[in-house]
Amino acid sequence: MKKLVVVTGGTGFIGSHTTVELMEAGYEVLIIDDLSNSRIEVLEGIEMITGRKPMFEKFDLCDRGKVMDCFKNHPGIAAIIHFAAHKAVPESVDKPLMYYENNLLSLINLLEAMKEHGIKYFVFSSSCTVYGQPDTLPVTETSPIKKATSPYGNTKQIAEDIIQDVVSAGDPVEAILLRYFNPIGAHPSALIGELPIGIPLNLVPFITQTAIGIREELKVFGDDYNTPDGSAIRDYINVVDLSRAHVVSIERLLAGKNKSALETFNLGTGKGLSVLEIINTFEKTTGVKINYRIVDRREGDIEQVYADTNLANNELGWKATISLEETLRSAWKWEQYIRQENNG
Ligand code: UD1
Repeated sequence: MKKLVVVTGGTGFIGSHTTVELMEAGYEVLIIDDLSNSRIEVLEGIEMITGRKPMFEKFDLCDRGKVMDCFKNHPGIAAIIHFAAHKAVPESVDKPLMYYENNLLSLINLLEAMKEHGIKYFVFSSSCTVYGQPDTLPVTETSPIKKATSPYGNTKQIAEDIIQDVVSAGDPVEAILLRYFNPIGAHPSALIGELPIGIPLNLVPFITQTAIGIREELKVFGDDYNTPDGSAIRDYINVVDLSRAHVVSIERLLAGKNKSALETFNLGTGKGLSVLEIINTFEKTTGVKINYRIVDRREGDIEQVYADTNLANNELGWKATISLEETLRSAWKWEQYIRQENNG
């Protein structure tokens, strides 16, 4: 019988790609999403790729009664992957309580429901934001956790602590924390991808929207960083590669291969790339020129961060394999596809 995995936030960017990878690996998926930052049509994209629709429940995870009812109505849940969260850094600065309430209450409710229903395995969507600006690069999983620079980042740190405390308390929970670097790109089919609502905050959606003419120009935030070309450096990871790490994590937990009840892995490529390198590679691989201008640094941005991937490669047995060129091509293909859909 197929194992049932709950994917919260499964209609979102990383959640939808992970759902596809899980279904293709033979899992049954139940998506829980309130559609506050995603669209129901994503389910059709998933169905077109996999040939099946995942199960879907629309509700807010902050409603504990609904979480409990949902788990009661779907017996036999083997594991949970928890993506659902607010994730816009500037918005979190303006509305901290909304971020703390949403991101933490949903987690607490899920952990309570796991206890109540005897569900043991949990994979949590964390972020490299927990490292802040690291003192040494690349960052390993044991690099110090720096004071968060935004309420969003703080919710990720607190969430990690909550999970750690639950495991330490002896609850029969076994968890894997996955710290993502910068997920970009789209499924090669271009049937699912990133759908930012309004003006994108992240680099690659801004590049593709500028390329297609929705945005007049891309602002490059700073060229006076202490980096080879002066622009900031990040570790950009293909979303399909990233999604596969979730399947590997689920398999690890279900097979009892985890070394301790709580494990943490960095998910990146291990390679730091500058904003200007991303723009140049996009232009070279797609043949489309980007109208960009250097402006001041963006408040709260760090200079550079990229992952030490040894633990993920050697212990988790996962490695990013998709090239930057292919990744940027997939993002561009997706941008063209959704514009056509919206106009058609
Ligand atoms: C941020 C968060 C991260 C979160 C991610 C996804 C921090 C430190 N990081 O990553 O936790 O998971 O968003 O929401 O809070 N850039 C431009 N012009 C643009 C947009 C971006 O030059 O129009 C630059 C940024 O200055 C940065 C790089 O591109 O140097 C990447 O930015 P972005 O895609 O927003 O991701 P992060 O800020 O790294």
